[in-house]
Amino acid sequence: MESEPDFHTAKALLEWQIDLGANEAIGEAPVNRYEVPEKAPKPAAVVADMPLLQQEGPDPVVIAHDMAAKAGDLPALEAALASYEYCELKRGARNLVFSDGQPRARVMVIGEAPGRDEDMQGKPFVGRAGQLLDAMLIAIDHGRAGAANPVYITNILPWRPPQNRDPKPEEIAMMMPFVERHVELANPDVLVLMGNISCQALLGRRGITKLRGHWVEALGKPALPMFHPAYLLRNPVAKREAWHDLLMLQAKVRETGLLT
Ligand code: URA
Repeated sequence: MESEPDFHTAKALLEWQIDLGANEAIGEAPVNRYEVPEKAPKPAAVVADMPLLQQEGPDPVVIAHDMAAKAGDLPALEAALASYEYCELKRGARNLVFSDGQPRARVMVIGEAPGRDEDMQGKPFVGRAGQLLDAMLIAIDHGRAGAANPVYITNILPWRPPQNRDPKPEEIAMMMPFVERHVELANPDVLVLMGNISCQALLGRRGITKLRGHWVEALGKPALPMFHPAYLLRNPVAKREAWHDLLMLQAKVRETGLLT
């Protein structure tokens, strides 16, 4: 019979798993994958995970449009999202991540989707990428609520995708009516589109390396695509371009007479 590993061996094994990226428990109980039958029947969850647009029943995008249109203010929009039951991501998320910063600020930052920290705290951009975002904003005299030049922050998706995978097109499609209404109600003067997912959703284009550094229009507003702070953490040399874009943002806000 195999003996239990001692404390130090168990700790080393755990650290090794963390080094390999297994740094989060995703189930209540451990599963021994060697004991799972090879040809297990397809769990119901896999069927439920199929693109919702192809399933029978009401169209989730139409329902999203309807619910978003009925929301008369930001708290009502948050409540509408909280009661929207057609996005599978909701079931795996701990919290709805709606927004942070000052509603109706002149600058609205739109990121991709919550990560682990955001999911736990229910606020966008609070993890490492968020800390970098805060530092970037402070560098141009901006900040979240309470700052002299406040910004408002949200994401395309309000629920964390499992293992931080990219959002699926159907997930983006059903969240877009909420994002559009969010921008309408927050009514900023400019949008900052953080990263490819935000550009894909709002401009219908990816390729942030080419898109960044140029003002475009999204939802009828001037929009500046920028490198996502998570990308900047992985590629610090790109901070040079990010600094250029931040200065563009500051200049735009000054130009429209909005900076204090
Ligand atoms: N990345 C995002 O795009 N949004 C967050 O809220 C956190 C990380």
